[in-house]
Amino acid sequence: MITIQNLTKIFRTEELETSALSGINLQINEGDFLSIMGPSGCGKSTLLNIIGLLDSASDGSYTLLNQEMIGLKEKGRSSVRKENIGFIFQNFNLIDELSVYDNIELPLIYNNVKASDRKLKVEGIAEKLNIAHRLKHYPQQLSGGQQQRVAVARALINDPKIILADEPTGNLDSKNGNEVMELLTDLHAKGATILMVTHSDYDASFSQRTILMKDGVIFSEKSNQRNVDVFKV
Ligand SMILES: Nc1ncnc2c1ncn2[C@@H]1O[C@H](COP(=O)(O)OP(=O)(O)OP(=O)(O)O)[C@@H](O)[C@H]1O
Ligand SMILES: [Mg+2]
Repeated sequence: MITIQNLTKIFRTEELETSALSGINLQINEGDFLSIMGPSGCGKSTLLNIIGLLDSASDGSYTLLNQEMIGLKEKGRSSVRKENIGFIFQNFNLIDELSVYDNIELPLIYNNVKASDRKLKVEGIAEKLNIAHRLKHYPQQLSGGQQQRVAVARALINDPKIILADEPTGNLDSKNGNEVMELLTDLHAKGATILMVTHSDYDASFSQRTILMKDGVIFSEKSNQRNVDVFKV
């Protein structure tokens, strides 16, 4: 589903050149649940952002669903992104000026879904994520856990094939964090491909395999015990 070869990313500012990724090779198959761990600054978010087409690589190859993404123009990138990818951010990234309903509805508008279908979908997913009673509220009126559930609803509303999550429980207490992890596990069981950045060994244990990054490279990979049977299949 995803093949990455010799991927590099250099950030250039006037004074400084940072080599954030220095030759990443990675294969992700349909239905994989992968976690990425490593110290702060090692390039995890950079890799996730490139995979999610929110940023572009400096060099190398990235094929997604048999299509080369490097060199693709913004218009092509955004259509691949909105049709296939759901992104969950650590800080939720909700739009404060929009209600919960409008935040969740946004990807459907981008995908030209007609109004009556949008309403059904938003209400359906809000019900599933236990935020139906909050649809008229604004993000700031919600707890962190509720905000993350809205962000998850927004990421999932288009039934994306690939879910990218950058420290999805990073700003949550353990109860809300667990709920998000259970939700991701559930989606994985239903066939979603998930790539999650995390600092938590506990969260990583929900995934099938963990790749460890350091200084812009992947230096090891392990399969996780909890999922070892799933992993073998
Ligand atoms: N827009 C940018 N401009 C310049 N440098 C950047 C930019 N984004 C990231 N970097 C640098 O690239 C490196 C990798 O950053 P990245 O955000 O990918 O790290 P991370 O592994 O996600 O860290 P954390 O665990 O703290 O979130 C860091 O040295 C960072 O300072
Ligand atoms: Mg990061």
